[in-house]
Amino acid sequence: MKVGVIGSGTVGQSLAKAFVSEGHDVILGTRNPNKEDIVTLKNENPSLTIDTPAQAAAFGEVVVLAVPGTAALESLQQAGPANFEGKILIDVTNPLAAEAPVNGVPKLFTTSDESLLESIQKLLPTAKVVKALNNVGAFLMYKPTFQGGKGTVFIAGNDEEAKATVSEILESFGWEAENVGKAEAARAIEPLGQLYVARGMLNNDWAVSLKLVRL
Ligand SMILES: NC(=O)c1ccc[n+]([C@@H]2O[C@H](COP(=O)([O-])OP(=O)(O)OC[C@H]3O[C@@H](n4cnc5c(N)ncnc54)[C@H](OP(=O)(O)O)[C@@H]3O)[C@@H](O)[C@H]2O)c1
Repeated sequence: MKVGVIGSGTVGQSLAKAFVSEGHDVILGTRNPNKEDIVTLKNENPSLTIDTPAQAAAFGEVVVLAVPGTAALESLQQAGPANFEGKILIDVTNPLAAEAPVNGVPKLFTTSDESLLESIQKLLPTAKVVKALNNVGAFLMYKPTFQGGKGTVFIAGNDEEAKATVSEILESFGWEAENVGKAEAARAIEPLGQLYVARGMLNNDWAVSLKLVRL
């Protein structure tokens, strides 16, 4: 599969490497291809292509958005909305506000009635936007080994086939995917990123996952 990743931070790099490890063709889109860590990443992963965010979006059948939530809409505009037409867009972002956390709890710039995913979907009406992995530490995204089995990644989005494809990708990355509904369900998933950060800051412990357990 052709995969484009937008954003070369900890998440973008982690997922670009994960897709390469699974044998996909990957372009990592960055505004700064000469950054030291990107040069190192390329040297360590020769089959990974580094290019602009627009080229990554144009190339990918599946595109990953891995930028700060505050920069999500702007970076999609810069990558060219036409490059996302009809494509699966895996939205890993969290709508974390720029303000300081309150008692270790980060603030969100969204409301309980509109998620960032929904704003992205409005900007890219024909893209098949799927929320996923936003409450999973970047270092855990690919094949983590948890006590008690696989962790659960909650996903949401309007397109059922796109969610099925994202579920298969997540399974290949060592996760169990749980579909919780259409785009509006991202209103419930995005605060899980807030929960992950609040708990992580309180305990200085990030090596955990949510898991859905059944009777
Ligand atoms: N860190 C985690 O463990 C984690 C886990 C789950 C979800 N998330 C979410 O995933 C997203 C990415 O997280 P991250 O930790 O990889 O973030 P990060 O390290 O801050 O990297 C974000 C990348 O986004 C790109 N970018 C594009 N426009 C930008 C702008 N205006 N300002 C700053 N960066 C911009 C930059 O890449 P270029 O310079 O290459 O363009 C930057 O390296 C966030 O929404 C975060 O909440 C993070």
